[in-house]
Amino acid sequence: MMETQGIVYADNSATTPVSPAALEAMLPLFSTAYGNPSAIYGLGRDAKKSLEDSRRKVAGALGARNNEIFFTSGGTEGDNWAIFSVCEQYAGRGKHIISTRIEHSAVLKALERLEGRGFEVTLLEPGRNGMVSPDQLRGAIREDTILVSVMMANNVTGALLPIKGLCDVAHERKVLFHTDAVQAAGHIPINVRDIGVDMLTLSAHKFHGPKGIGALYARVPLIPGPLIWGGGQEKGRRSGTENVPLIAGMAAALEEGTASLEENNQRITALRDRLIAGVLAIPGALLTGDPVRRLPGLASFVFEGLEGVGSQKLVLRLDEEGICVSSGSACSVGSIDPPAPLLAMGYDAKIARSALRISLSVYNTEADVDRILEALPPIVEEARKGIKEE
Ligand SMILES: Cc1ncc(COP(=O)(O)O)c(C=O)c1O
Repeated sequence: MMETQGIVYADNSATTPVSPAALEAMLPLFSTAYGNPSAIYGLGRDAKKSLEDSRRKVAGALGARNNEIFFTSGGTEGDNWAIFSVCEQYAGRGKHIISTRIEHSAVLKALERLEGRGFEVTLLEPGRNGMVSPDQLRGAIREDTILVSVMMANNVTGALLPIKGLCDVAHERKVLFHTDAVQAAGHIPINVRDIGVDMLTLSAHKFHGPKGIGALYARVPLIPGPLIWGGGQEKGRRSGTENVPLIAGMAAALEEGTASLEENNQRITALRDRLIAGVLAIPGALLTGDPVRRLPGLASFVFEGLEGVGSQKLVLRLDEEGICVSSGSACSVGSIDPPAPLLAMGYDAKIARSALRISLSVYNTEADVDRILEALPPIVEEARKGIKEE
């Protein structure tokens, strides 16, 4: 299933293949049932019905109410929307925001923009395991804090942050709490009522839905102020004709993923643990992020002796072997940036450049893990030799 011409796809934290159920849900909405949900004739009403069915499915998967789900163009928009809307609506109460140094740039860049507009931002420092604690948050909250935004699962290390504890601390002090659940949604059980978050961002392409679509959960009576203005769709909060097919694909993927979460996660976790054990057998390989509290499918490593080279070499050599993984680093004109979360966690920039992220999904098999474990050790060895000879 999901064979991509012999390729082992193990970069599911970057994006995932669309599931057959999601594809099936989308296809008729492109071809025959293509109405505009704002139109009052039958074709439009059918599209509206599809839209509201999707909203019900997304809400159901999160334990939310239907009117608490707003569709977006993905994780970046959801994070920006949550943060900007709270800051715009509550600036009168205070201008202090708390987040962490391990957030995705969709959060960090939004916060930078707000700093330029007179807001003050405190970024909590993670421990070596990539965690921040409720006590750290307690110490950072001030009288003028209006928002805390902490991700549920980190995209570089897979560490699962203690969101419920953090959220409780924020609420003790009457501060709103947003979580970027882009890496977590569809991968771990989430019930917004149990956790108590005020806002939560998700993105479909991380859980076998299509790209360019996501959702923002906002707890009633909180209503996000519009970021995009126009025809008044999404109760005037997010204008623009709704992307009915992609929304249906997202809802189908989330519903399917949530229904089989436990069973899938047992299998994925077993694959991941075998992968971790195999990679750690390579001399000088180190696991990053919390060893226990981590996403079922994500394993990330750094390699001693590869300092300064960057893992791009490993990624490209693995690609030649038909294996897709990620370096966890961003490339910018000739330089390789080490992943910011690893630097924040106290890794030296040189070793952080050797970061390799391997992320599995329900479509990966034992044979995929075998192929990675066969290919990787000689490639690491070869890269180390290359450095010595240079
Ligand atoms: C933690 C996290 N937040 C936000 C995003 C952005 O999501 P999108 O690609 O849907 O805009 C990503 C994507 O990699 C992510 O990993």
